[in-house]
Amino acid sequence: MKAAVITGYGSPDRLELCDVPRPKPAKNEVRVRVHASTANRTDTATLRAHPFFARAMTGLFRPKMQSLGMDFAGVVDMLGSEVSSYQVGDRVFGMSPERFGAHAEYLCIPIDDAIAPIPDGIPFDQAVVGEGAWYAHGTTKLLTEGKRCLIYGASGAIGTAAVQLAKANGAYVVAVVGTRHTSLANALGADRVVNYEREDFTAIGETFDLVFDAVGKTSRWACRPLLKKGALYCATDMGPYWSNMLLGIWYGLTGSKRVRIPFPEDAPGFIRRLADLMAHGKFRGVFDRTYPLAEIASAFRYVESEQKTGIVVIDTLGELESTGAPKPYPDL
Ligand SMILES: NC(=O)c1ccc[n+]([C@@H]2O[C@H](COP(=O)([O-])OP(=O)(O)OC[C@H]3O[C@@H](n4cnc5c(N)ncnc54)[C@H](OP(=O)(O)O)[C@@H]3O)[C@@H](O)[C@H]2O)c1
Repeated sequence: MKAAVITGYGSPDRLELCDVPRPKPAKNEVRVRVHASTANRTDTATLRAHPFFARAMTGLFRPKMQSLGMDFAGVVDMLGSEVSSYQVGDRVFGMSPERFGAHAEYLCIPIDDAIAPIPDGIPFDQAVVGEGAWYAHGTTKLLTEGKRCLIYGASGAIGTAAVQLAKANGAYVVAVVGTRHTSLANALGADRVVNYEREDFTAIGETFDLVFDAVGKTSRWACRPLLKKGALYCATDMGPYWSNMLLGIWYGLTGSKRVRIPFPEDAPGFIRRLADLMAHGKFRGVFDRTYPLAEIASAFRYVESEQKTGIVVIDTLGELESTGAPKPYPDL
């Protein structure tokens, strides 16, 4: 099969399209013929070994995995000897956050891992929604009915998912985006949209129970005027001078946990919840460009530009529409 093999840590030049043996499913695994995957910030950070301590999990001197690719959508094509809950031909989607491997034509995954049937009517290239949503869920799960939150950077994979998941939890949501994404943020269901290019988002006259920096571009210090007494500040990144991590440790020691970089957990449970939200029309991915597997290095370079809108799709089998241009959000 064709796979985008990583030859070592470093730039997208370390990705090579190779012929490798098809994997065989272990007794509790299914093999999926992968129709779509994504290139995302987890893939690019893993390739760059950023932050450096991630090497403890992904391999000290060279990556442990043959290929990257965390999101997959495709069709079950072979069953392990003990699998009875899936059939050959089932349409499935999910994530492989530890072993990766979806930048290839086939992927094996244990059935008790992050895999679920694709809800009816959703094509493969709109089912690869796990990564950003899972990171968003690490924060939005802290929101309950009526809580007030501000999501800074609501146009990336995490931010677009965070707005929808926060609304699904019943929260009041203010989304902060640049000019080109204001109608998208409205379409996603934000109660108020603030354009950071036109106004100071920290001086909008509102305060919040939770401020979420979904793109790693602001700081708790800058967001002080937005925080109610005892409010939470969550971020997806270390922050300037690693301030989010240091403050997180500090507040953790004092017991208040008011600054957090939530680490996503329970990938299997989350994928099942996401499937349910998608089936009920409460969650939809926002998609940017589609790249063929052979152009995976270009896809990584585009993701590293930090300019994508939502999700960048990888067409693993060469059968999806590869326009190279951003797709409109369905409601626009
Ligand atoms: N270490 C890891 O494994 C890991 C994994 C996943 C994510 N993360 C972190 O999580 C963050 C978000 O990831 P993501 O995939 O959701 O991001 P993303 O999709 O790459 O975010 C891109 C979006 O951010 C917007 N943006 C750029 N500069 C901005 C600014 N100054 N203020 C507000 N918005 C801005 C861009 O639109 P405009 O420029 O038009 O505003 C673009 O739509 C990143 O910081 C990433 O490093 C880390």
